[in-house]
Amino acid sequence: MVTRKLPPGFVWGAATASFQIEGSTAGDGRSDSIWDVFCRAPGAIIGGATGDPAIDHYRRMADDVALMAKLGLRSYRFSVAWPRVRPDGGAVNERGLDFYRRLVDELLAHDIVPWVTLYHWDLPQALEDAGGWPARDTAYRFAEYADTVYGALGDRVPYWTTLNEPFCSALLGYASGEHAPGRSEPQAAVAAAHHLLLAHGLGVQAIHARSAEATVGITLNFAPVVPLNPDDPDDVEAARRIDGLQNLLFVEPVLRGAYAPGVLSDLAPYGLADHIRDGDLAVISAPVDLLGVNYYLGNTVSARAQDRAPDLGIVTPNPPGSPWVGAEDVAFHKVGRLVTGQGWEIYPEGLTELLTWLHKEYSGVPMYVTENGAAFPDRVVDGQVHDPDRVAYLASHLDAVADAIDAGADVRGYFYWSMFDNFEWAWGYGQRFGLVYVDFETQQRIVKSSGQWYAEAIASSAGQG
Ligand code: FCB
Repeated sequence: MVTRKLPPGFVWGAATASFQIEGSTAGDGRSDSIWDVFCRAPGAIIGGATGDPAIDHYRRMADDVALMAKLGLRSYRFSVAWPRVRPDGGAVNERGLDFYRRLVDELLAHDIVPWVTLYHWDLPQALEDAGGWPARDTAYRFAEYADTVYGALGDRVPYWTTLNEPFCSALLGYASGEHAPGRSEPQAAVAAAHHLLLAHGLGVQAIHARSAEATVGITLNFAPVVPLNPDDPDDVEAARRIDGLQNLLFVEPVLRGAYAPGVLSDLAPYGLADHIRDGDLAVISAPVDLLGVNYYLGNTVSARAQDRAPDLGIVTPNPPGSPWVGAEDVAFHKVGRLVTGQGWEIYPEGLTELLTWLHKEYSGVPMYVTENGAAFPDRVVDGQVHDPDRVAYLASHLDAVADAIDAGADVRGYFYWSMFDNFEWAWGYGQRFGLVYVDFETQQRIVKSSGQWYAEAIASSAGQG
């Protein structure tokens, strides 16, 4: 069985994010986030869905943690909602912090290691009103918020990540506009990317200032990019640009202390250099203790979208703009692989490629797969949810992780996305990623067969000691 190949001590987990599960969006002093406001915009979210009640986790937290314990999870990755902890980006709200104190207590009581993501996309709307991520000041507000959360939970939470997928915050939030705050302004997106990086660096500094021993890093989303026709120089150039935005924009400043030269020149017309102040890159590259890697699919791209778009495969519900600043004309192709229920091509080998590439390029930083998973149209039949496609997805991707470890990559854990079906951003409640099925009407939870399979895989790995 695949799990035999994973080393003893490997961290087996599952992940969620605050806005996707919590609900109670006005509870205990929480203010609006950009996602609350974005959900109110007509047509922004499929089905007009909102973050309330989501899966009502804010009120059902203890039962949800009991379910994690039932599956034998070793670690649970969750995010803290900034607008609960510092509503409107302002003063600290102890009632909001108390929820996370209780969550951490509950996890520890069940021997589940808590893993905190500080920012999984729910910026307080008041900070967006003051300029959002394109404004430099937001990075300093983030550092204050990071200090607050670490101060409250740092003694009991061993693993910390600053940002989840700043690629999405910057490029989907401010360039394509398919994510909150829904702006389609490529120059603002580029400013946002730099200020998110700065926020990360300031956040790492704030945490390490409180504890030099803290284990802190960042989660980035990566995807291997290949040209459709490797002999066509235009396709090769398209792949280079997409690779720069998808894979290099964030990791190079964080782990090497400089923007990749190609990214710097591709984004020069959008003003990237104007935002970089003396000393910024030293802050951004403050040493990290881990790299979180999110992986879902690979990309095959060509130039000239207009002639070659019929098999366009990228998932972009209703975007008024393109996320690919400086490469708007690139087409994304499906190349005949199996797809998830959402139409994402299933490519486990891509995860091995990615982890071995990261290891070769940035060796020395321990890696954790902080997200990987698949949506399928699950159905309840006789009170059960049978999801063999997800089991196959999970098994093949765990195998891919084992292959990367065999090839020398320092991968120390895997978090399935997601523990529960939940609010899937612009897709609303239409995409189910969970190991646990949630009936969104009744809030009933049913462990899927993939959840049972994962529990068995975890239990069998425990025997290897
Ligand atoms: C990632 C997000 C996560 C979830 C998965 C499917 O980009 O980090 O919240 O939406 O995709």
